[in-house]
Amino acid sequence: MSNRIAVLPGDGIGPEITKEAVVLLEEIARLFERNIDIRYGKIGGIAIDEEGTPLPEATLQLCRDSDAILLGAVGGPKWDKQPAHLRPETGLLALRKSLQLYANLRPVSVFSSLADASPLKRELLRDVDMVIVRELTGGLYFGTPKERREGEQGLEVVDTLYYTEAEMERILRLGFEMARHRRRHLTSVDKANVLESSRVWRETAERLAGEYPDVTLTHMLVDNAAMQLIKNPSQFDVIVTENMFGDILSDEAAMITGSIGMLPSASLSESGPGLYEPIHGSAPDIAGQNRANPLATFLSVAMMLRQSFQWTREADVIERAIETVLAEGWRTRDLSKPGESCLTTAEMGAKVREALVQYVK
Ligand code: NAD
Ligand code: IPM
Ligand code: MN
Repeated sequence: MSNRIAVLPGDGIGPEITKEAVVLLEEIARLFERNIDIRYGKIGGIAIDEEGTPLPEATLQLCRDSDAILLGAVGGPKWDKQPAHLRPETGLLALRKSLQLYANLRPVSVFSSLADASPLKRELLRDVDMVIVRELTGGLYFGTPKERREGEQGLEVVDTLYYTEAEMERILRLGFEMARHRRRHLTSVDKANVLESSRVWRETAERLAGEYPDVTLTHMLVDNAAMQLIKNPSQFDVIVTENMFGDILSDEAAMITGSIGMLPSASLSESGPGLYEPIHGSAPDIAGQNRANPLATFLSVAMMLRQSFQWTREADVIERAIETVLAEGWRTRDLSKPGESCLTTAEMGAKVREALVQYVK
């Protein structure tokens, strides 16, 4: 049986990091004698330039016909002044919505050899092991109206924070389930002191807590959560939160690990293919320079193999190879000190592939 993987490189550093991730995938398939069928699709700015739309129908169909999707990143200054329907990000949002990828999992753990790369003190990093469960298909990102319009005072603008109770319950339930299989602590992050949506979110969490007596539920306001992530990151096990808060908090949490180039993600639906991507963007400032860190994408591949294909050994081998390469002191630019020599994107890819072999039995 062939395992179909759609690869959507996207823009900026997207093609550079996905190229290395695909070579890694092919190496894993060879070592473990797995069949994979990789097909490429266009999304984002490149799709706008070549097809006139950020999510061409052919790409959506390719994704629907696949078992899993690997995405690089979308966006860049070239398209920043475009109207919404011609923005790269709109393509990614439409893909998430079309495939009902409501659950975005962003695990945060620190490789001990990277402690020096983190801006936090070493003692704060010990025991950091959390997963941010971000709602991905609702909230401010998708609510309507979402527009500019002429009002009595001139230009008016509106974004709408809309959620159904069912959408909140679905993601909160996943948070409880994940906590149940981890350290049984769920932190629900909201802004219930201001937002009505957050008050319903909190009530829903309270109601579900009755079904999960083994899980300790803590509510935390999002501004405090942003502070606590820096003050004492190891207090968190599972964080569950709405779309926009999860977006912002996960970039912050990424830095705990040393670089945003380290954080992977999985976006899952109730059925159908999962989407795997690093949490970072297209990094226009370093695009085309062969210096982006590909490890967040490699770790996303590991999440894909574990989650979509149940290839646990293969996923473990990728993670152990990365750990080994980092422990040997190899770094891309983002992880190294100024003036220190470092690896290119392609060199890091080669190092990780070399390190795989020792773990394959
Ligand atoms: P960004 O994540 O692209 O970059 C922020 C900073 O982190 C930059 O200095 C960049 O060089 C650095 N960085 C990011 N990834 C890196 C990596 N793998 N290795 C080394 N350094 C890395 O965020 P931004 O600059 O705010 O956004 C740039 C574009 O990316 C925007 O168009 C934005 O919409 C888009 N974006 C896309 C996604 C996605 O496709 N999922 C996510 C976030 C941002
Ligand atoms: C992310 C990105 C996206 C988001 C953008 C590109 C739409 O920042 O995946 O974190 O805000 O969800
Ligand atoms: Mn983001």
